[in-house]
Amino acid sequence: MTNLLHESYDCNIEAAAPRPSEDPLAVDAETMREIGYRAIDLLVERFATLADQPVIETATREEMEQRLREPPPAGGTSFEGLVKKLTEDVLPFTSRGDHPRFFAYIPTSPTWPSIIGDLLATGFNIYQGAWIESAGPSEVELVVIDWFRRWVGYPETAGGILLSGGSAANMTALAAAADAKLGQRRDGGVIYISTQAHSSVIRAARVLGFPSEQVRVLPVDDLYRVRLDELERAIDEDQAAGLRPFFVFANAGTTNTGSVDPLPELATLCERRGLWLHADAAYGGFAVLTDRGRRALEGLELADSITLDPHKWLYQPFEAGCVIVRDRELLHQSFYISPDYLRDAEVSGDREINFSDLGIQLSRRSRALKIWMSVKYFGVDAIRDQIDRCLDLVETTRRYVEDAAEVEILCPATLGIVCLRRHPEGVDDEQQLEALNSDLIARLTATGRGMVSSTRLHGVYAIRLCVLNHSTTEDDVLEVLRFLSTTPVS
Ligand SMILES: Cc1ncc(COP(=O)(O)O)c(C=O)c1O
Repeated sequence: MTNLLHESYDCNIEAAAPRPSEDPLAVDAETMREIGYRAIDLLVERFATLADQPVIETATREEMEQRLREPPPAGGTSFEGLVKKLTEDVLPFTSRGDHPRFFAYIPTSPTWPSIIGDLLATGFNIYQGAWIESAGPSEVELVVIDWFRRWVGYPETAGGILLSGGSAANMTALAAAADAKLGQRRDGGVIYISTQAHSSVIRAARVLGFPSEQVRVLPVDDLYRVRLDELERAIDEDQAAGLRPFFVFANAGTTNTGSVDPLPELATLCERRGLWLHADAAYGGFAVLTDRGRRALEGLELADSITLDPHKWLYQPFEAGCVIVRDRELLHQSFYISPDYLRDAEVSGDREINFSDLGIQLSRRSRALKIWMSVKYFGVDAIRDQIDRCLDLVETTRRYVEDAAEVEILCPATLGIVCLRRHPEGVDDEQQLEALNSDLIARLTATGRGMVSSTRLHGVYAIRLCVLNHSTTEDDVLEVLRFLSTTPVS
């Protein structure tokens, strides 16, 4: 490979002669600074006041149309004018997913170094599809994925790629598994998931040519883990019918309850039957850094592939997902393609890596920079301690619920998630309980002080809290729990 490092590379801004410009889109250095500092001030102000802002503000389509609909302007607007418009009509109408009392869905709470890392990746406009154009950032991605590899306990044969999120990671894993196990023909290939699987796998199956008749949805036990006997029975039946079972999608932290499928047993079964085992550890996976998380995720390293979402429990801003495959060559076999117009960027051997050979994106940003910067800035110990603190807060929640009158816990508190419901004495009608609990959620949201979401567990309506935010304190958790347990309900 040619070394394209130039000898004299003077990046001293004072020494740089101003370039004559007829570029109507050019912005001079002073204005760049002014705009940039203004934007950073906006962000710092946001973080400083976040805990006092409403957790979510929303509006109808009509309201938003009134605020924002306009023809494309022929002339420009001052940056201050844009800031005014943004701060009055656009940015308020969002959830604050990183608010310390946002416990709905899966919270995302990026740290400042990770945000700045993303800003730099954008500003440097890194093209990270080909090694030749991004040797530095590509090496950073290799390093970051190697960190993940070690954390989950994979061997050195493993490798992966950073993607937009868990949905893309699950789809990428399914594509690699289908190629490895079925070859080019998809007919008869059967996928096994549990009722608790994330919906992204169903979408991935559909997109990759596996209609719902080729997806078996298996029941779970009392702890919301896939039933092994049902899985083996389904595989037997499908094989007897001449179908081709090939993919088991295991949950390593379900979105509903945080439960983890029996990974060691699943790995043994998949090995024996020749199926690919994928572990979706999108939100829960980084808990392996802690002792408690490692125990909960026992056997994760036995899967053929793993989904991890740094934009969930590794405190990165959207978008940051990752798939790691135990045999990294299989990713390459699925995605590598070599058109004439990209021959100049081709790499030979496996020293340099073109990340566009490992996934669906050719043009891709550097997602590794923000992860690398923030992990190096804080160190792994601080991140581990923080994940541990979230696990403690979930324990606090469990204890609170156990002691509170009129509230019951609906699943074991696992990997940052607790499900509960208000259950006043004498009210046993399920419909009434559902109405009462969904009303509580709506009332909490309306206060702007906190946000939780709902789900169904074995058909029962549940309030679900997911505590992953690094800035959440015990007081934040208790404030929301007090609201849910003491607000008068009829
Ligand atoms: C277990 C699990 N898998 C996959 C996903 C999808 O991830 P993303 O929203 O990043 O596409 C989620 C999202 O919450 C999830 O919890």
